[in-house]
Amino acid sequence: MPKRPTSTEPPHERAFLVGIELRGAEHLLSVEDSLAELALLADTAGMEIVGETYQKISRPDPNTFIGSGKASELKDFVEETTADTVVFDEELSPRHQRELESILGENVKVLDRTALILDIFAQHAHTREGAVQVELAQYEYRLPRLTRQWTHLARQAGGGAGRSGSVGGVGLRGPGETQLEVDRREISRKITYLKSELEKIRAHRGRYRAQRKRSAIPVVAIVGYTNAGKSTLLNALSNAEVYAADQLFATLDPTTRRVELPGGKAVLFTDTVGFIQKLPHALVAAFRATLEEIAEADLLLHVVDVTHPNALEQAEAVKQTLDELKATDIPVVTALNKIDRLGGLDSVSPALADFPNVVPISALKRQGIEALLDRAQKTLQLSLAPVDARIPYSDGQLISIFHEQGVVDSIEHEEKGVRVRGRIPVRLVERFKPYAIKARRRAQS
Ligand code: GTP
Repeated sequence: MPKRPTSTEPPHERAFLVGIELRGAEHLLSVEDSLAELALLADTAGMEIVGETYQKISRPDPNTFIGSGKASELKDFVEETTADTVVFDEELSPRHQRELESILGENVKVLDRTALILDIFAQHAHTREGAVQVELAQYEYRLPRLTRQWTHLARQAGGGAGRSGSVGGVGLRGPGETQLEVDRREISRKITYLKSELEKIRAHRGRYRAQRKRSAIPVVAIVGYTNAGKSTLLNALSNAEVYAADQLFATLDPTTRRVELPGGKAVLFTDTVGFIQKLPHALVAAFRATLEEIAEADLLLHVVDVTHPNALEQAEAVKQTLDELKATDIPVVTALNKIDRLGGLDSVSPALADFPNVVPISALKRQGIEALLDRAQKTLQLSLAPVDARIPYSDGQLISIFHEQGVVDSIEHEEKGVRVRGRIPVRLVERFKPYAIKARRRAQS
């Protein structure tokens, strides 16, 4: 088996990778490309990749996922390469994991793509909310899988967000309890604690969100596949002397920056969690609140690494995730990033040109940033939807929202309410619908 290049970090685990092609299932990436991505994930998690294999199956075997023949072949590979960890490119059930561990032997850890992504997220979670969300996702993922491998769990999930004692051997054993039961009890306790922490953080975030809404500054959410260059772009935007200003509120999440558009209007750019194909469900669930903020943005800035051989598939994966988040009505500007690494735009997949509002940029070399901001501004302006509504006096808040976030063309105080005509951000249209004046009635009035 060929070895892939690895990072210069001292290796923690010697990982053998297993790709799976489920016949008939729709996948964005080929099994080879998905395996190459898994290798990058394992490398990022600090593993040394010692080999890889893949298996085509019609449906997962209930015991071993890959079938008993392939499992015993895998055992040989593992022995040959002296691997101590096997990473599967699909989510394994607790049963699969137990069966595979018993086949591969005591000293071999069996992990899956989900565990790996959770591990990386834990390493990269910078904000307190991020750290708590990942830790919660890790414990929820691990609880049904808890076996003798809890030491791995302690290493992975002990990121420090919870700070309520480490898992694995710290709890005192009750009468007749095994260590495993103690660990389970301890983890359940931690899950409860982390959930309550998250509630507190979210209440705080809710207050901030309300404050942000009152300030009526449009929000641009930067989305993109992992490693597309979102953070680099956010830095480029906020360091660019002409456009950027210092952080607005002290309580602002560190990944949000206030930027002035060429026309002088300010917007908030916010960096979000990187997307990846087969994004683990546990993570999507834990990050739902963060991800849902994307659905509330006024504009999405989709960053694509055009130098990646799977740029198109990655962009599709981002679109799919946005669909899941119901963020389909929000206008999009597509930044084709890293053009400094290309001789010209000829090698870029022509299909990407069909993405909305394409602007080639280099976030690193700060090329095309002005054009990007210009496009963002124009798209924001164009995305306002016309509204003609009669809002009852009892719903004064809606009138304030119109003033703050829309453009009012005319306003009349009538007997039954306030008649407003103008334009508002598309995401607010639903809220005005109950009071909208239909075109025919408008013609009569
Ligand atoms: P995640 O945190 O994984 O979601 O990644 P990200 O999308 O925030 O990407 P990030 O900004 O961390 O950039 C990933 C890598 O791409 C880094 O090594 C950057 O230096 C590099 N990069 C980003 N933009 C450019 C660019 O315009 N040109 C080149 N050559 N490299 C870039």
